[in-house]
Amino acid sequence: MLTAIDSIPLMLVFVIFLLLVIPSLSIIFLRRGKKPRSDGLCLPPAPPRLPLIGNLHQLGKLPHQSLWELSRKYGPVMMLCLGDVPALVVSSAEMAREVLKTHDVDTCSRPASPGPGRLSYNYLDVAFSPYTDYWREIRKLFMFELLSTKRVHSFWHVREAEVDSLLGYLREKVGTPVEMNERVFSLTDGIVGTVAFGKTYGREQFAGRNFQRVLDEAMNMLAGFSAEDFFPRWGRAVDHLTGQKKRLEKIFADLDRYFQYVIDEHQKPSSTHKQEVEDFVDVLLNLQKDPKNRLTLTNDHIKAILMDTFIGAIDTSSITLLWAMSELMRNPRVLKKLQDEIRSTVGEKPRVESDDIAKLPYLRMVVKETLRLHPPATLLLPRETLRPCKIGGYDVPARTRVFVNVWGIGRDPMSWERPEEFYPDRFEELERDFKGQSYELLPFGGGKRICPGLTMGVTTVEFTLANLLYGFDWKFPEGTRMENFSMEEEGGLTTHRKMPLRLVPTTYNN
Ligand code: HEM
Repeated sequence: MLTAIDSIPLMLVFVIFLLLVIPSLSIIFLRRGKKPRSDGLCLPPAPPRLPLIGNLHQLGKLPHQSLWELSRKYGPVMMLCLGDVPALVVSSAEMAREVLKTHDVDTCSRPASPGPGRLSYNYLDVAFSPYTDYWREIRKLFMFELLSTKRVHSFWHVREAEVDSLLGYLREKVGTPVEMNERVFSLTDGIVGTVAFGKTYGREQFAGRNFQRVLDEAMNMLAGFSAEDFFPRWGRAVDHLTGQKKRLEKIFADLDRYFQYVIDEHQKPSSTHKQEVEDFVDVLLNLQKDPKNRLTLTNDHIKAILMDTFIGAIDTSSITLLWAMSELMRNPRVLKKLQDEIRSTVGEKPRVESDDIAKLPYLRMVVKETLRLHPPATLLLPRETLRPCKIGGYDVPARTRVFVNVWGIGRDPMSWERPEEFYPDRFEELERDFKGQSYELLPFGGGKRICPGLTMGVTTVEFTLANLLYGFDWKFPEGTRMENFSMEEEGGLTTHRKMPLRLVPTTYNN
């Protein structure tokens, strides 16, 4: 995953500094992106790059924004060089279609190692990343066993319990500012944890800490810079020197111990975790024992699947909820329209029920509009080409990283009228959904790699948002006004609000 420039090791910063402050040196060293090629290939346009770091210095703190700016100059298909790694960046709906549909099979691998999957890679070198027969089997497991619509619905009671607990907390806090980040993260974390681990999750301390702490550290680590990401040939040595490798290994060991503990608990005959609905660990352990199952599923495979679920699920759903609340606070007309829809449809109940959600079309439009402007994975997860292919008429070699700038595509004036405006009503006329068929709106990606947790993510966001707006009215805390309310972004593994969201719930009197 692309990461912040300020975390590049000192040595690289020094090189950039030299090249920037000594213009004559820059002139000598700057290579033009387009070199005459002897192999006859027609590569995509490329911004000039520096020796050693290539275009890394151009990513800035928010790579999706910097790349969007660059694409204005170099076009919707660009070729960059990130350290040693060639990278294709596509920035229009049309080019996204070429990657995710026309050339889906050519471009659907993931960088072998490292990259965002580097923790699960420590378990084994298969899992979800490279496109292999094994990956296809695991993907089926995700789609049909773990995250099927039926299973997502069988967990309504978990979602309800977490939302009830949040509503209870907010009732006690009426009239005072609430740190929404904390509340929302703990809600999604509770949902995903219980769905994956069952009752074991979160209740017990493990080695003096709970799993949430270990996972937080892992997420921070993944968001940070690893030299090996961009310099596969010698980055590992730098990671060794900077201590990055040691830190990764320690976090991995903690995670591994925790996952092993959960598996052991599930295997105990007297296990206390038994519940009516099987959690992910139950499903995977049953499959492991099933003589008809032909998929190799060791405990390491199970741990890798759990890891990917946590990384994929918690941040993305929480970030979407926080952006949705932020946009609604800035757009009182939309907020009122949505609250009117929810309150008139639901009537008088303690809270919105699961079967009310399907009757709330404007709610779905608000979530779509939020994901258009604020897709948590702004550049999707990096793909890698399996073989050479042509995108937009240009040659793209094998083993090139592929980034689809869905953040830019969601704001492209060629695809959207008044793109910067939060205007969910646009979807009354526009038949665009986020299920991977409309290439203008791709918060969950598309093609073979489309997010397998789409239904679970959207269900959690819609249900929680509906309840936050049904039971309460909301205002800014003292000192915050609409004009100075920050919508700044901050990037890491995912892109989220820079400033924590603080809001005041007030009682709604019907
Ligand atoms: C609003 C919520 C969510 C958003 C916006 C989101 C977005 C994404 C995106 C953009 C990708 C990469 C797609 C690509 O490369 O084309 C992805 C992959 C993935 N997501 Fe989600 N996601 C969400 C919720 C979830 C949930 C709830 C889960 C699991 C419970 C999940 C599990 C995964 C997994 C395992 C992958 C990797 C798939 C692969 O590499 O084949 N996601 N997600």
